[in-house]
Amino acid sequence: MPRKVSIPPKRPVYPSPAVLITSVDAQGKPNIITLGEVFNLSIVQPVIVGIAIAKPRYSYELIRESGEFVVNIPHAGMVQKVDQCGCVSGRDVDKFAAFELTALPAEHVKPPLIAECPINIECRVLGIEEIGDHDLFKGEVVAQHVDESLLDTHGRIQIADLNPLNFILGEYWSIGQRLGHHGYTRHR
Ligand SMILES: Cc1cc2nc3c(=O)[nH]c(=O)nc-3n(C[C@H](O)[C@H](O)[C@H](O)COP(=O)(O)O)c2cc1C
Repeated sequence: MPRKVSIPPKRPVYPSPAVLITSVDAQGKPNIITLGEVFNLSIVQPVIVGIAIAKPRYSYELIRESGEFVVNIPHAGMVQKVDQCGCVSGRDVDKFAAFELTALPAEHVKPPLIAECPINIECRVLGIEEIGDHDLFKGEVVAQHVDESLLDTHGRIQIADLNPLNFILGEYWSIGQRLGHHGYTRHR
């Protein structure tokens, strides 16, 4: 058996996706924040996602005021832009212009989709919960978009082509190989 040692807990659960969240100010000017804390809270009926944002972030006040955000899932080739969007504030920098990202109008919310990201999830804020050093924003998903080129003939997302980006212990990693699918052990 492995010998266990205690280590101080810090951001203990991983990997998590690294995503780009878009929001808008009162004039409709968009901003982008990189988040590692993003998760599914309710999966199908209804579809609700959670994002954890620290109070000092500019995006915190934009999303609280507008009540809307878009989760944009990047591919691993976008790692540099993901890091850049997480290192400066929209209070100081227009991140769309500075990091050459393209804003596309969303269907139901004011924050734009990021065209370069293969998946975009439009959300309306259901509530904000004070948690600790980050607060939980619960977002009802009102639409999801995907690059058509990622879908197979059955309309399923081809994960290898999606090539998602993970954030683990402060580092960016791409995914490894496919090991199985949900329930594969029941069919042997
Ligand atoms: C990979 C990565 C993951 C991050 N995850 C989070 C997060 O989950 N929550 C958060 O509040 N900030 C997170 N940050 C920090 C924000 O992205 C960063 O403070 C950003 O500059 C805030 O932008 P804004 O002031 O324009 O909103 C992360 C940064 C990086 C690079």
